[in-house]
Amino acid sequence: MVVGTIKMLILGANGMLGADLCKVFPDAVKRTHKELDITDRKQVIESIQKMKPDVVINAAAYTNVDGCEDNKELAFQVNGSGPGHIAEACAKVDATLVHFSTDYVFDGSKKEYVESEIPNPINVYGHSKLLGEKKIIENMDDYRIVRISWLFGINGKNFVETMLKLSKEMDNVKVVNDQFGKPTYTIDLANKVKEIIKLDPGIYHITNDGICSWYEFASSIIDNLIPCTSEEFPRKAKRPKYSVLVNTKTEPMRHWKEALKDYLQERNI
Ligand SMILES: NC(=O)c1ccc[n+]([C@@H]2O[C@H](COP(=O)([O-])OP(=O)(O)OC[C@H]3O[C@@H](n4cnc5c(N)ncnc54)[C@H](OP(=O)(O)O)[C@@H]3O)[C@@H](O)[C@H]2O)c1
Repeated sequence: MVVGTIKMLILGANGMLGADLCKVFPDAVKRTHKELDITDRKQVIESIQKMKPDVVINAAAYTNVDGCEDNKELAFQVNGSGPGHIAEACAKVDATLVHFSTDYVFDGSKKEYVESEIPNPINVYGHSKLLGEKKIIENMDDYRIVRISWLFGINGKNFVETMLKLSKEMDNVKVVNDQFGKPTYTIDLANKVKEIIKLDPGIYHITNDGICSWYEFASSIIDNLIPCTSEEFPRKAKRPKYSVLVNTKTEPMRHWKEALKDYLQERNI
């Protein structure tokens, strides 16, 4: 498939990852939440049938992990049923679907997770995203389910921005030092999609290279911080201790520290 000549549709175009996908694929047709609600099966099927894209990239999701605990039904509609509707529509027009899932489909009891590992979510967000994966697999064959983790990108609320803000507001920022993962820059991920589209259908684990705790990640952003445990920093949703995605299928991306440098440069910091 020659990426430049294909007809592409990006859903969730206003989100953090969606906006960078739009930058990387400037000729794609873009749909924001307002323009296309992925929970509306009829609307999703009609618009995809009308547009007949070769590739659909779904960056739409309900991503507030703690919010999902309070809004379970919405989480399952957007993250579970929504991808099912998109997959159903893609199957009707023979389109390839690139969909993003999460490290939070795993429980974090193992240190690392390869693509074939059996998921076992421990929060509502993880359960809802896993349902989305299942609905896609049930409805179509030509999918790329791309599990990703710890995103930072210029167009959204993210950990880097939270740290920069808190660092100005507080003497010392407490950050958990017992949850480990792989920070990932949305621009790197969006560029990687060019390659993923051309690969075989299946599940992919795509992140920047390098493993760290949230505290270690924060240490590369701000100076006034102190480590703490997850018990000292309770959240509504349980988080996996280790959510380290291992990519066994494609070339690794650059280290998150290099990506973070570019991000901070883009932010003029
Ligand atoms: N952020 C992370 O650290 C992370 C980690 C692992 C996986 N992921 C996955 O990566 C993907 C992109 O995440 P992100 O961080 O870019 O999320 P985001 O910034 O929250 O963007 C999600 C987008 O989806 C839209 N949306 C919500 N409900 C919708 C609906 N019913 N129909 C259509 N659009 C809807 C939102 O629009 P409104 O804001 O207008 O509602 C928003 O523009 C998601 O699949 C997410 O699960 C993210």
